[in-house]
Amino acid sequence: MFWLKTRIIEGEGSLKALSKEVRGYERVLILSSSSMKRHGFLSEAEDYVREAGAEVFSITGLPAEPSVETVEELLPKLREEFQPDLLVALGGGSVIDTAKALKVFYDAPELNFEEIAFIDRFSKPKPVPKLKTPLIAIPSTSGAGSEVSAASVLKKGDAKYNIVSPEIAPEVAILDPRLPRTMPREVARNSGLDVLVHGIEAYTTKAANPFSDAMAIKAIKTVYKWLPLSVKGDEEARAKVHYAATMAGIAFLNARLGLAHAMSHKAAWIGPHGLLNAIFIPYVMEFNAERSEYARKRYAEIARELGFKTTKDLIEVVRELNEMLGVPRLRDLVDEETFMAKLDEMAEKAYRDGLIAFNPVEPKPEEIRELYLKAFHGE
Ligand SMILES: NC(=O)c1ccc[n+]([C@@H]2O[C@H](COP(=O)([O-])OP(=O)(O)OC[C@H]3O[C@@H](n4cnc5c(N)ncnc54)[C@H](OP(=O)(O)O)[C@@H]3O)[C@@H](O)[C@H]2O)c1
Ligand SMILES: [Fe+2]
Repeated sequence: MFWLKTRIIEGEGSLKALSKEVRGYERVLILSSSSMKRHGFLSEAEDYVREAGAEVFSITGLPAEPSVETVEELLPKLREEFQPDLLVALGGGSVIDTAKALKVFYDAPELNFEEIAFIDRFSKPKPVPKLKTPLIAIPSTSGAGSEVSAASVLKKGDAKYNIVSPEIAPEVAILDPRLPRTMPREVARNSGLDVLVHGIEAYTTKAANPFSDAMAIKAIKTVYKWLPLSVKGDEEARAKVHYAATMAGIAFLNARLGLAHAMSHKAAWIGPHGLLNAIFIPYVMEFNAERSEYARKRYAEIARELGFKTTKDLIEVVRELNEMLGVPRLRDLVDEETFMAKLDEMAEKAYRDGLIAFNPVEPKPEEIRELYLKAFHGE
């Protein structure tokens, strides 16, 4: 099965479509991070909302890699002060994920994070009920794919957990390439590498289908060709990778993700999401390819799409791309003592992550531990 809930509006200057999209709503709340205010996109968006005759409220300065606490702090403002009938998320995956979680607890105040999040794949969370407040997502990074996905990823303590429901997939996504053009180099790199990992993992899960494959392959090819230029700031490349990010989001909305994401979610305390995925993916590909013929076949198909031949070639290509873009080793991000102290707990939590069920191979906790170690030492 293939599905997509979100209506996608794309193109240079498409932010102005907000004006039409908010028509009929009365109280619109825009959630954003600091850069959106700094670069003038927040005030532009506010103007479009006012033009449509709605009242506009804004919260800016939302943090990267949000936590359950981020959401809890904001909720009273929504409930008591703003009482919006429409939410607009203007920012990266972090802002969009925050908006999705806010939507859940604003519309269904009886719920709490622990009962609806996928904390452990061996126990089933409560389903999210029907929610009423619509969400428009306007991504400012080219990465997470949260503008079309059914997931909100939040930190609780050191690890990240997902809320997954069609109810939180945004109603509308506006893809205006002007926004990601202001990304600093590292944000462009980290979020762009997340797109590559979304494509590779979505193409190789047990849930992949021909339609998710088409989106995954197009996203992978685009990132491979354009990400180095995009990181340098090339305007055309920024637009290409921006659309690729949403395509990869559509791929994993359907095909889900695998072990690299399970590992990065449980290592969230170490660094930014896309960077961790980029570090883990070559090790995960080796691990899967050694144990699964299906994985080998699928990686080789990706290799051929990029003009190479084998799984080994693909792993090499990914390693070279990481190197070219200056992706650090894990041991450059965290000291050995801290890492070793957390290793067993991380491996156990990653083993319990819901995404393991979609990975082509089911790893044992001790195998995940080995993979974390290999990635740490850069072997
Ligand atoms: N829901 C899903 O399906 C899904 C999938 C994958 C990942 N994720 C999650 O998404 C998050 C990562 O999202 P992301 O990679 O999009 O990055 P992000 O964490 O949203 O953004 C990183 C930083 O980039 C800055 N930034 C964003 N857009 C900018 C722009 N246009 N110009 C200048 N600076 C800009 C922001 O800084 P300022 O504070 O200065 O604005 C922000 O702190 C993680 O928490 C990850 O777990 C979710
Ligand atoms: Fe991701």
